[in-house]
Amino acid sequence: MIDYTTILNTIHKEASTSKSKGEIATYIPELSKIDVNKFGIHLIDKDKNEFSSGDAQEKFSIQSISKVLSLSLVLSLIGEDLWKRVDVEPSGDPFNHLSLLELENGIPRNPLINAGAIVVADILISKLKNPKENFLTFIQDISGDKSINFDEKVAQSEKETGFNNYAAANLLKSYGNLKNDVDTVLDFYFHQCSLTMTCAQLTKVFFIFMNRGKCLQNKTYLTTSQVKRINAIMLTCGFYDEAGEFAFEVGLPGKSGVGGGIVALLPNHFCVATWSPGLNKKGNSKLGMLALERLTTETQQSIF
Ligand code: DON
Repeated sequence: MIDYTTILNTIHKEASTSKSKGEIATYIPELSKIDVNKFGIHLIDKDKNEFSSGDAQEKFSIQSISKVLSLSLVLSLIGEDLWKRVDVEPSGDPFNHLSLLELENGIPRNPLINAGAIVVADILISKLKNPKENFLTFIQDISGDKSINFDEKVAQSEKETGFNNYAAANLLKSYGNLKNDVDTVLDFYFHQCSLTMTCAQLTKVFFIFMNRGKCLQNKTYLTTSQVKRINAIMLTCGFYDEAGEFAFEVGLPGKSGVGGGIVALLPNHFCVATWSPGLNKKGNSKLGMLALERLTTETQQSIF
């Protein structure tokens, strides 16, 4: 039996005393207000035992982590047709780069870079009656937690400053890979990124990817084949131009966000989330990556 309590407390202690915590994302003004010293880690195992240390019950902006959730909902709605509009190859580029999008005629490399997530948002808008509400309900349902919500201030802040995403959406539109209005699609995209969750909530939302598509309440939302695909995309694309490094150091499928969150999972074993708002140069949480490397090294558990 692994002593997760001691391991998480040790990781938390190391993170608290670390001198170099990375830089807060300032390009979304509302995110720049967060205290760089925050650190939380939470783990849920397959038997639903939970372990926690630090600020694991404090809400933060999940940002790009939400792209896995919109991808899941779209896959459950349209299945393999999705791959006509977005590819599944790692980009090797930062999350907001547009050069490949033009070279590849408006087909984003994968659903976890911004352009790919914007196409996914466009499909959800076409398929759902009340897109933002239905998306939120999907997340509340898979986690069994009705308190999860958008942060209007963060969504508004990104709407005012997200010029790169407007460029991506316009480029997609020019290639015919966006069916709805740019403003409508970005309103959805900025809201999905503004979702706030604690580390504990994140592990419950992502439980289905660890548990072959079944949520905490044992209801099935995704097929095992869909879960395989989503976990493969997280492993190869979840950390952008640092996906290789994350696989090398941590050895788990996972996803990061510029709010400083990371969620990762070992299929059929556990799901873990960290939050430390300081980012490294690639836009991923600096201490979060170190924490997860320590976890998989100490417990000798990874997909490899
Ligand atoms: O679109 C953006 O730039 C942000 N809403 C999300 C970026 C993000 O979280 C990248 N991940 N590390």
